[in-house]
Amino acid sequence: MTASTNGAHAFAVEPNPNPRTNAEREAELAHPAFGLAFTDHMARLSWTAGEGWSDRRVVPYGLIALDPAAAVLHYAQEIFEGLKAYRHADDSIWTFRPTANAERFTRSARRLALPELDPKDFLGAIEALVREDRAWVPAGADTSLYLRPFMFATEAFIGVRPSHTVEFFLIASPVGSYFANGVAPVGIWVERTTHRAGPGGTGSAKCGGNYAGAMAAQESAYAHGCEQVLYLDAVRGEYLEELGGMNIVVVFDDGTAATPPISGTILEGVTRSSILQLLADRGVDVAERPVALAEVVDGARTGRVAEVFACGTAAVMTPVGRLKGDDFEVEVGDGGAGELTMSVRAELTDIQYGRIEDRHGWTHRLI
Ligand code: COI
Repeated sequence: MTASTNGAHAFAVEPNPNPRTNAEREAELAHPAFGLAFTDHMARLSWTAGEGWSDRRVVPYGLIALDPAAAVLHYAQEIFEGLKAYRHADDSIWTFRPTANAERFTRSARRLALPELDPKDFLGAIEALVREDRAWVPAGADTSLYLRPFMFATEAFIGVRPSHTVEFFLIASPVGSYFANGVAPVGIWVERTTHRAGPGGTGSAKCGGNYAGAMAAQESAYAHGCEQVLYLDAVRGEYLEELGGMNIVVVFDDGTAATPPISGTILEGVTRSSILQLLADRGVDVAERPVALAEVVDGARTGRVAEVFACGTAAVMTPVGRLKGDDFEVEVGDGGAGELTMSVRAELTDIQYGRIEDRHGWTHRLI
């Protein structure tokens, strides 16, 4: 059993008998892309109706055996999270607001009729896996170990009802920037044909189904030379919702900012809420209100919109340089990275990497 801190539950460890060699690992860590390489271990837990969660283990990373009738393969009863472990200059390893992710995981589980996972298990899995795979936390600028907790329905039953058996896994991947060009400004395709979420749907849950439904629009974005897709609200088709995998914030020429409100149809981003706090700390007036596409497109043309950025755990803060739709294409500002975007990005990452004081108590030491 690994020792736990902060009341996190303990996990038994089965060391990988064939871990990558130091040279293999160092090669993976030298230039990590996003989400392609995985560490030597994974954490897992099993749930059975009437019995609850059991079998807390860190095991060698490897294939998962699933019955072809497993409910997740048919009805997508699945949820996930995303957070990161950061190596500080003194080699200690930290994560960022894990309780916020654990709480969102619980809300997602309720929405998908999956069992709730005790936050002590969520944190216990993170602590145990990062302890085992600590050598996989990269040290390069803007690199981190991306942590991907997920839970899915395993019961071999193709009637439609919540599964009686569920598995939780945590895998980890050394990563650099989410976008191939680093923090360079990205182009956004405004999707008008499909919607990501509607009132009463699963838009605020972090479930794979939301992302599956977004793949076709992401393909359209690539076909139009853009890196990401922007969704509009499903009722009027007029207001910004979120990007395919991250939230969006608009900065105006008078120094104020606006972002779509938490309405049930967008993801309640942990990075989003952290950035709103950092902006508020600077005295920036940030409105969480419906933001019309017309306001942003016209504003980009007139200069009223000075900056737009994407934000999420994976994307951190990425400037948006261009918006494109069926009948328009506009540059935001001069198409480059906005000043406020880059300054808040620096502040956020300075907190995450322990370079400045963590005045909000967001960072959590793992090792
Ligand atoms: C994250 O930002 O962590 C996400 O989960 C987005 C993802 C789809 C890469």
